[in-house]
Amino acid sequence: QIHVWLDCDPGHDDAFAILLAAHLPSIKLIGISTVYGNASLARTTYNALSILTAMGKTDVPVYSGASSGLVRPEVHAPDIHGESGLDGTDLLPVPTAKAKDKPAVEAMAEALLKCEAGTTWVVATGATTNVAQLFMTYPDLAIHVKGLSIMGGAIGGGYTNVVMGKVGDIERIGNWSQWAEFNILIDPEAAASLFDNPILAAKTVLTPLDVTHQVLATADIQDLLLHGKGCVKGKTTLRTMLVELLTFFAKTYADVFGITEGPPLHDPLAVAVCLDGIVGAEIPFFDFVEGGKRERYKVQIITEGSHDEAHAGAETGRTVATLLPDGQEGVKIPRGLDVARFWSVVEDCMERADKI
Ligand code: BDR
Ligand code: CA
Repeated sequence: QIHVWLDCDPGHDDAFAILLAAHLPSIKLIGISTVYGNASLARTTYNALSILTAMGKTDVPVYSGASSGLVRPEVHAPDIHGESGLDGTDLLPVPTAKAKDKPAVEAMAEALLKCEAGTTWVVATGATTNVAQLFMTYPDLAIHVKGLSIMGGAIGGGYTNVVMGKVGDIERIGNWSQWAEFNILIDPEAAASLFDNPILAAKTVLTPLDVTHQVLATADIQDLLLHGKGCVKGKTTLRTMLVELLTFFAKTYADVFGITEGPPLHDPLAVAVCLDGIVGAEIPFFDFVEGGKRERYKVQIITEGSHDEAHAGAETGRTVATLLPDGQEGVKIPRGLDVARFWSVVEDCMERADKI
């Protein structure tokens, strides 16, 4: 079993990240911290507690973290997640546990240090503000953790051929601007501090939009999740609630981005990343090899303006990934994953959650 600390801003897709982190048998979820983002900090914290209550996992401690960026004001995403951050269902329970009083960064450090070195993943599915503060305040943790998994960024340039549309003749790769993805854009200074740390960068897996847009919660998938594989248990309140959330998410993705097949389920992929190397290690879940070569990247976050003259100062929040020479250590960015296996992992977690 590996230990996972999940830092999130629930958030429709964050709710599925919690499902996986809380119900994968090979993962022990040691704590959750919340961050502003999809909604205010008060709401994302309430949502995390409510989701844990719905999943029968109120023993997982929840801590409130940052309510704004390292240097920037808070930004929310009501067009995508609704005002509450989890609009679309009336089935969210009133939480039966409260957030703990301790500051999130302190609680994270304590929990990580209690685990044996090299056994713990930090998974970030929101702005990376809390996580950046963690490694700034406790720099030795960069050596202590096994890995850092971040859902964020957009690579573009034909990396996986997933694009968000066009702006004039130019491919749009970001979801919050032409170039930038939400989690990175709202606190680019935080993200930059993580990727600029060479010890951490060598342990980081970044799952960008180019990959998450390969995992769409289509109508068929929603149906599978609602009823369960082989109708083990059939439609339950938890399944109905999660699928109502997906239906809302599907509508906002169709309305805002014109993606009608189903919404990309970004955040649980960052949890699934931690499975590589433990479950079915002989068949890695994610694909980090291209043309037979193991790929590692130098990742730069543009905090102001642009990274070259051609982009005329318009790239704040962009993730620039440069392939490193063979053998050099750096950030891992998957090109793809076993999508069918991912959905079967989600369904397995639903079954386990249903049994509680
Ligand atoms: C990311 O932004 C948020 O809205 C989602 O929860 C996800 O973490 C996708 O860009
Ligand atoms: Ca999120």
